[in-house]
Amino acid sequence: MFSGFNPLEQTPVLGYSHLDDASIRAMEDRCGAHHYDRLNVVVRQASGSWITDIAGRRYLDCLAAYSAANPGHHHPRIVNAMSKALLGHYASVISNVVYTDPLGIFLDRLANFVPPLAPRFGTGGNKVLPKNGGVESVETAIKMARFYGWKAKGIADGSQEIIVFKNNFHGRMITEVSFATVARYRQGFGPLTPGFVPVTYGDLEAVEAAVSSDCCGILVEPMQGEGGMRIPPPGFLQGLREIADRHDLLLLFDEIQVGLGRSGLKFCFEHDGVVPDGLVLGKALSGGLVPLSAFVTHADLMDLAFQKGSDGSTFGGYPLACVAGAAALDVFEDEELALSAERQGGKLRRAIEQIAARSPHVKEVRGRGLFIGVEVHGGQAMDFCRRLVDQGLIINASRGHTIRISPPLNISDDEIDFLLTRLEAVLL
Ligand SMILES: Cc1ncc(COP(=O)(O)O)c(C=O)c1O
Repeated sequence: MFSGFNPLEQTPVLGYSHLDDASIRAMEDRCGAHHYDRLNVVVRQASGSWITDIAGRRYLDCLAAYSAANPGHHHPRIVNAMSKALLGHYASVISNVVYTDPLGIFLDRLANFVPPLAPRFGTGGNKVLPKNGGVESVETAIKMARFYGWKAKGIADGSQEIIVFKNNFHGRMITEVSFATVARYRQGFGPLTPGFVPVTYGDLEAVEAAVSSDCCGILVEPMQGEGGMRIPPPGFLQGLREIADRHDLLLLFDEIQVGLGRSGLKFCFEHDGVVPDGLVLGKALSGGLVPLSAFVTHADLMDLAFQKGSDGSTFGGYPLACVAGAAALDVFEDEELALSAERQGGKLRRAIEQIAARSPHVKEVRGRGLFIGVEVHGGQAMDFCRRLVDQGLIINASRGHTIRISPPLNISDDEIDFLLTRLEAVLL
């Protein structure tokens, strides 16, 4: 847990209210949409890798909000930057009709943090378009590819096609669920958005066959997260790069979940030595403290696709999010979070493999860095997760069959031991 100044530490209330857990659950049941299957924990505080309930019981966070809390919860440097912004009155949404220094500074920081994208378009550097959550920036990437198809390739507007992958996850707005292959994401929500061609993840021949004269882009996760923590076969991303170059398609990587150090490198695509034309980031971009996402691409492509009025968002790039984003990038670099993910992930992975070798339940262990999936026989990973919650872990399953282990990237050796002891107890 992070220590440091906390003005509320001495108050009798742990977290936001005195209301008991049953009342909180009842309120949500009565007044909220039932679109999440929650674990039976009502969280009152989160700090570093630890989550606390009203009784003061602590849980090790092995999920990190699906990679959003990469630097740990309430990282003091990010909290400090945000607190200063709030107390200094430069945090609120002002409106995009004026300039603000947090936005300019954040754009400059992120454009230079990402390696130069789309080098085939020259050395113009990157530009950034910020939004408020991953799915919004996926939409930005889709708009980019479609516009490029129309303007640069002469595809009739309305006919543009983008190749996507089965078992993908890019969010749950209408456009993204339109090409999801999980039926419950889609069913009953039609009419769906046309213009997407799903092919098998890892199958380059299928990709090549799917390229039509209306094709303008390929949208892919360099490692599938929600789809079961799947690493693509060797050469797949290079193959996509070659196909994209040969057919003049924009190659768009969604690194919302696996980017920003999670895989043990700054970006997951670096494992394959491939540079995309556009990159979607979210989740950990603000260190998990405020919704912030971004689409990053080559300056010329951004200028081609987005003119005054052709995009916009009230909160996209508002000062508080940008202050958090700039601080989170500083933390990422100063604390070498990618290196930590690689080092701690390696330790954890080796120990999990040893447990798996003795376990009758484990089918496969896979992953990169601190993004480790433990697939169990019989597809009931959630049963194991519920037992792990009872033992003090916050953990869940990916696609029902895989226990997902993705703690904050600065997890300590002691915390890893805590995790392993419990994992061993339920898997053996
Ligand atoms: C790869 C990927 N893309 C997009 C999204 C959607 O992001 P958000 O929930 O912030 O809209 C997610 C969320 O898990 C994701 O993992």
